[in-house]
Amino acid sequence: MKRLATLILAALFTTALAQQGELEIFSWWAGDEGPALEALIELYEEQNPGVQVENATVTGGAGVDARAVLRTRMLGGDPPDTFQVHAGQGLISSWVAAGRMEDLTFLYEEEGWFDVFPRELIEMISTEDGIWTVPVNIHRSNVMWYIPANLEAWGVDVPATWDEFLAICPELQAQGVTPLVVGEGWTQQHLWESVALGVLGADNYVALWRGELAFDSPEALEVWEVFGEVMACTNDDAPGLAWQQATDRLVEGEAAFNIMGDWAAGYMTTTLGLEPGVDYGWAASPGTEGVFMMLSDSFGLPVGAPHRENVIAWLRLVGSREGQDTFNPLKGSIAARVDSDLSLYNAYLQSAADDFQMNRLVPSLVHGAAANPTFQDEFATVLNIYLDTGSAQAAANAAQAIATQTRLGQ
Ligand code: GAL
Repeated sequence: MKRLATLILAALFTTALAQQGELEIFSWWAGDEGPALEALIELYEEQNPGVQVENATVTGGAGVDARAVLRTRMLGGDPPDTFQVHAGQGLISSWVAAGRMEDLTFLYEEEGWFDVFPRELIEMISTEDGIWTVPVNIHRSNVMWYIPANLEAWGVDVPATWDEFLAICPELQAQGVTPLVVGEGWTQQHLWESVALGVLGADNYVALWRGELAFDSPEALEVWEVFGEVMACTNDDAPGLAWQQATDRLVEGEAAFNIMGDWAAGYMTTTLGLEPGVDYGWAASPGTEGVFMMLSDSFGLPVGAPHRENVIAWLRLVGSREGQDTFNPLKGSIAARVDSDLSLYNAYLQSAADDFQMNRLVPSLVHGAAANPTFQDEFATVLNIYLDTGSAQAAANAAQAIATQTRLGQ
């Protein structure tokens, strides 16, 4: 009996010893964007009762502000224990190139992750020297959202092409409805990448990021022309709106369409309590049916993380089926793992999972998958040049200059 008690005590002691101290998780999933991460942290705390988690968030969609804060901390030698980072060039050409991340290949081996994450996704987070993060989800960028009952009342259908959209734009404006609602700068860039995919088609869109199609080519110039016409169908107060407020305009019946990543589905369902397929509808953004513009959020282990063992326990959870199936149904994303339990996911997410399987996959610019972070950040300037001058040629020249400077695609 005494021996059993000693054994139990020893076991408890080892478990407590195993994970103690703190864990700082850095992301931009604040406020309305928080519920999925909070649920995952709750699971971590259940599994690691000795660890105190600090959920460190910096508000601002697409990480526009969080990425700047992270940069200051990383360069100042004060890395968080772990941080949200986009799979793709956003990770590889920045923190990995600078030697600031630990190789996580051992976790992939121990957890059997080579069999459960899509090969293309592992490639996005790998170099010859290692695998650098653990993806928690797959989001889709090229989605057009609408409220079916409102479209019916206004007598319009979901446009399959930009020409169709431009044809219904005046009909909606005549009824006092904003045809397409956009928000602050990055959401306009988000619209741009969907327009680019629709106008260029998948081959040429991918060629842009590989440096094989010039930004000042006639094909790419046309993207700006169409983008300008589309922007003329949007609200005047865009710069003041966060993406959630743009979604609110749709839900409140002030706007007919919004193009946003599927975190908008997470917001409409988890935060606003709307039912996908009934209260809101979706379609591939005009001209992009059959193509899935993807991005993925991931977490890694920076060199010098203060609580390394706690991070490793976090990463095991992030990559686990239970972790992904806790996080993603709330987030509006599908699991990065191929073996998730789809019965836990709503109608929108089930359709996204189907599309992810069947569609051609292409990367998002705005969400770190397609281009190096310098190009990604400088693209804000390109967009401003376009909005200030209205000149497709000026924007195209600026984009090509930055592509050349940052050796895009090389
Ligand atoms: C993306 C991120 C998503 C979502 C969105 C809006 O960059 O990958 O998870 O948070 O920004 O902030």
